[in-house]
Amino acid sequence: MDQGDNDWWRHGVFYQIYPRSFQDSNADGVGDIRGIIERLPYLKALGINAVWLSPIFPSPMADFGYDISDYTGIDPLFGTMADFDALVSAAHENGLKLILDLVPNHTPDQHPWFIESKSSRDSPKRDWYIWRDGKPDGGPPNDWLSEFGGSGWEYHDATGQYYYHAFLAQQPDLNWRNPDVREAIYEVMRFWLRKGVDGFRVDVIWPLIKDAEFRDNPPNPNYHKGRILTQYSTDRPEVHEIIAEMRRVTEEFGSRVLIGEIHLPLHRLVAYYGNDLAGAHMPFNFALLSTLWRARSIERIIADYEKALPIGAWPNWVLGNHDRPRVASRVGQEQARVAAMLLLTLRGTPTLYYGDEIGKHQVAIAPDQVQDPFEKNVPGIGVDRDGCRTPMQWDATLHAGFSTVTPWLPLADDFVRRNVVNLEADTKSILSPYKALIATRRKLPQLVTGPISRSQRRAISCFIDEMVPQGRPLLH
Ligand code: GLC
Repeated sequence: MDQGDNDWWRHGVFYQIYPRSFQDSNADGVGDIRGIIERLPYLKALGINAVWLSPIFPSPMADFGYDISDYTGIDPLFGTMADFDALVSAAHENGLKLILDLVPNHTPDQHPWFIESKSSRDSPKRDWYIWRDGKPDGGPPNDWLSEFGGSGWEYHDATGQYYYHAFLAQQPDLNWRNPDVREAIYEVMRFWLRKGVDGFRVDVIWPLIKDAEFRDNPPNPNYHKGRILTQYSTDRPEVHEIIAEMRRVTEEFGSRVLIGEIHLPLHRLVAYYGNDLAGAHMPFNFALLSTLWRARSIERIIADYEKALPIGAWPNWVLGNHDRPRVASRVGQEQARVAAMLLLTLRGTPTLYYGDEIGKHQVAIAPDQVQDPFEKNVPGIGVDRDGCRTPMQWDATLHAGFSTVTPWLPLADDFVRRNVVNLEADTKSILSPYKALIATRRKLPQLVTGPISRSQRRAISCFIDEMVPQGRPLLH
């Protein structure tokens, strides 16, 4: 890929690395930046174009890095700033773009901003977070819930107010109505862009700004999907102005990319391209993660998405990530190949999740080995995010070549057979179609850019029908 190519993010294949689990280089059982550098030749040979790293910044790790206590540092667990600079150079030398995770919705409660904010009601940083008085009966200001279970409001004794947290109580939400908060995060973006990173995947971008009046969320008629809707705590109209500002910051540095994590129905999702496409270059499209694995459902999703896309908006597709069960377990090993075929032949930008190319499956985690705070908060309902975050399986040696010591999460039990070395030697393995398809995308740009005609759509649907005669519902 030509580094000067402005459209690189349109015709590239993106690959998400969960750094804790990719490659350990210093024998502590946790992956790190040097480990990623060691594995760049593998990524280059796979044929991908861009690597997105889940957070590597200093963090108390209550949510494994999605709680950043220093936005412009590197957590010693992952290495040093010199290691990071070496990674940027090495990635670029290998023709790979590097995308960072940006987590602007919340900080940990140990961030200096929050420590200052909670110090008094008069603190200059009080308004950097969302503080409200309780109801007259002392209860929380409204009915908003935490994604990770329970109320979204935490009472702070010392100052007698509640603060809002969309996730853990240790992850207070920043107040994006405050211009100083915005500028502080935009400066963080500039810091990394100056270092040469090629863009950001912005974590939970759609709940960034909350209802100005803090209205109660309405009850959810579809109760099993949550007791209340998130009408006033997420997806507010003002969010688009912020995303356009973020886009302008990325554009100060030339051709960089802004990707948004957005979990919304398709017709709402596409609004995140922004007015005149001035929003996110790619609002992540997770439709394939939750559809029934049936030909007709998949066909409908492709058609609905294509129809909903604003003119000129660039499509993208995701099959797996660090929050959802592995595709090989959702649809089965055979169908995982079909899923790869689908992902890599749909027009638009595909994002792979590390290990899906070797058919990594969801690993069952014993209750006493659970690490994920979400699973700990609401155990046993199938959240289970550890199961898709287990170490990469490189070879058949002890600890799968991931580490020389016991890894932070258990390895999949089939790693002796299912590992990169073995699968590379086996032309019938799932890795072969992955490589072949990625290579084919390079050779046949129509695959990447071509509009999908009605007859092609029908052909895709017949193809899937043949491959999925019975249809299989997804597990999650
Ligand atoms: C995003 C991340 C997830 C994290 C959450 C809170 O959804 O993908 O892993 O727990 O944000 O930061």
